[in-house]
Amino acid sequence: MSRKLHIEVFRYNPATPDTKPYMQSFFIDEFDSMTLFIALNIIRDQHDPSLQFDFCCRAGICGSCGMVINGRPALACHTQTRDLPDHIVLHPLPVFKLVGDLSVDTGVWFRDVGTRIESWIHTRKEFDPSAEETRMENELANQIFELDRCIECGCCVAACGTARMREDFIGATSINRIARFYMDPRDERSEDDYYDLIGNDAGVFGCMGLLACEDVCPKKIPLQDQLGIMRRMLALNSVKGILPASVVKKLQNHKGCCHEKH
Ligand code: SF4
Ligand code: SF4
Ligand code: FES
Repeated sequence: MSRKLHIEVFRYNPATPDTKPYMQSFFIDEFDSMTLFIALNIIRDQHDPSLQFDFCCRAGICGSCGMVINGRPALACHTQTRDLPDHIVLHPLPVFKLVGDLSVDTGVWFRDVGTRIESWIHTRKEFDPSAEETRMENELANQIFELDRCIECGCCVAACGTARMREDFIGATSINRIARFYMDPRDERSEDDYYDLIGNDAGVFGCMGLLACEDVCPKKIPLQDQLGIMRRMLALNSVKGILPASVVKKLQNHKGCCHEKH
């Protein structure tokens, strides 16, 4: 027998600051294969057309439908209601600017950190449109692709204790992004350059390492591995002038350490 779902939704429109945030209850009939995305559309179609939430692809690709579902950040289009209790409580993702109800502006946040971490290939080579494409080993290309799968949904940022306490924290998604450039042989930045970008409390050293980011990532990106690799690289870089070069080299060659390019 299908269930009657009680869906409780955070409501607030920052454009009308005189009103106060509140929780509104909706009751709908569940059916097989219902996702939370479908449930929200039913609510908007049949109960309240003013309900704000974001979606685009409905397939876990665009990253726009992130929200807090019973206390846990996740994608609405990837969440089956049958995996949830019949009382579902929805809040917008914290950290990001609230647009209204369940809709937040992740774009401003990602554009800001993207600029701060200089999220592009740094090279002194002149662009030559007639040059052949640069060849790359398949294994390395796959490793880079693995990190490039981030859909910028913001779930890892919303789950992060540091991001919620520090406005300037770049989050696991940005550290993953930097790791992607660190791996890329076309990027000519040195370890000192990376240290200047993320060797501080707003970057790698602000991370408390409690794994919430990786737990909620809908794309299962190995965020902890990247945090570990970057933290270790930066830590070794900071003792370069103190420890003998032979010891630093030994530590760098230790299993699980920095990418072989360095
Ligand atoms: S491990 Fe670090 S980046 Fe991930 S949620 Fe915890 S503090 Fe945030
Ligand atoms: S790393 Fe995962 S959780 Fe974080 S923004 Fe990218 S896809 Fe979303
Ligand atoms: S609607 Fe695109 S990820 Fe959910």
